Amino acid sequence: MVYIEKFGHGGDLLTARQLFGKDSAQLLDFSANINPLGPPPRVMELIKEQLESIVHYPDPAHRVLKQKLAEKHSVSPEQILIGNGAAECIALTILGLQPETVGVIYPCFSEYEQLARAFGACIKPLFGREENDFKPDRSEILQLIANTDLVFVGHPNNPTGVTYSKEELVEMAGQAEKTNTYLIIDEAFIDFLPIETQIMLLKDLKRWKQVILVRSMTKFYAIPGLRLGYMVANPNLILKLQAKQVNWSVNQMALLAGEAVLDEKVYEEATITLIQGQRSYVKLAIEEKLGWKVFPGQANFLLVRIKADITAAELQWRMGHKGILIRSCAMYPGLSDQDFRIAIRTEEENQCLIQALIEVSKEGKPS
Ligand SMILES: Cc1ncc(COP(=O)(O)O)c(C=O)c1O
Repeated sequence: MVYIEKFGHGGDLLTARQLFGKDSAQLLDFSANINPLGPPPRVMELIKEQLESIVHYPDPAHRVLKQKLAEKHSVSPEQILIGNGAAECIALTILGLQPETVGVIYPCFSEYEQLARAFGACIKPLFGREENDFKPDRSEILQLIANTDLVFVGHPNNPTGVTYSKEELVEMAGQAEKTNTYLIIDEAFIDFLPIETQIMLLKDLKRWKQVILVRSMTKFYAIPGLRLGYMVANPNLILKLQAKQVNWSVNQMALLAGEAVLDEKVYEEATITLIQGQRSYVKLAIEEKLGWKVFPGQANFLLVRIKADITAAELQWRMGHKGILIRSCAMYPGLSDQDFRIAIRTEEENQCLIQALIEVSKEGKPS
C-alpha cells in the first residue's frame, strides 16, 4: 500500500492534498526533511529584488557561487561542480563515470539504485545490520568497494541516520584508491549535525582521486523548490563529470540564493541548535509515550518502528486525515511495513505530531 510516495519520495504535497482533501496550509509536512525555519529571509528578498534578471541566462560556469563555496571549504573552485540539487550531482556521477557495477548499502535513498539502473549499471547490494541500527560492518563495506566500480555511502544515511567516523571514511577512501573504485559520499544532510561532528574528508580531497562528496543546499536552506547542490572532488574528476552536465541546468534564482545563504551564520547555528534539541525531545516522547522504537540516527529526521498493530501505511493514512504527513518506509529494501520516518520540525509542530501519533495509536486497528 503506497499513499503519498507514489513517485518514490516524501514531500509530494499535490498527492497529499488530493488524498486528504486539504490545502497546503492545512498540511504539516514531516515526510520531507526540510529546515523548519524556512529559507533565510534574505533569500526571499533577493529573489523578489532580482526577478527581472530571469530575462538573462544564468552563468553557465557558476563562477560566483563556486568561488564562495571554495572559500567556505578551503578548496579550489576547480574542485567544485554545482548541480540542480544533489539529485543531479548523483546522476552525473553515474553518467560521467559509467560504472558497470554500483554498490548500494540498504536501506538508503532510492535514487542511488534507480539512477544506476536507469543508466544501465548492475547493482551489488549490501544490507546494513539491524542489530547495529542498520550500519554495515566495516569489512563488508571494504569488500563492497573492492568488488564494484562505484559505491554510494550516505553520511548521514537516509532514512537510517547512520554516520561514519573519520577513521572509517578514511579507510573507505583508501580502499577506493587501492581498488580503483569511485566512492560517492552523499552528505546531503551533514549540515544539520553539530559543527564538531561534521567529520569530513574535505581537507584531504585533493589527495583522494576516487572520492566525490555530494552536498545538498535544498534541505538545510529550505529551498527544495529552487533546486541546488554541489560536488567536491579532485579537479580531474570534476572535469569528467562536468562534461556530462546540461548547460544552464542550474537556474539564476538558485545561484543567487546559494550565494546569499553562505553568509547566514546566525541562521546556521540556530538551525543546528533547534534540530539537536528537538530531535532528543521527539525521540524521547515517542519512546516514552508510545513505546515505539526510535533508531539513534544523527540527522534532522528519525526512523521509527511501530510497536503496535498498525502498519506505517495505515498510520500515514490516519495522520494524513489529521493534516500531518509522515513518510512510510515500507518500500525501502531492508525495512519493514512498520517503519516510518519523520522530519524534525519546530517545538510546536513536533508537539502536534506527538499528540496526533498518540491519538491514532489509541484508536486501535482500522476496520
Ligand atoms: C540522501 C539524499 N541525497 C540527495 C537528495 C537529493 O537532494 P536535492 O534536493 O539536493 O536534490 C536527497 C533528497 O531527499 C536525499 O535524501
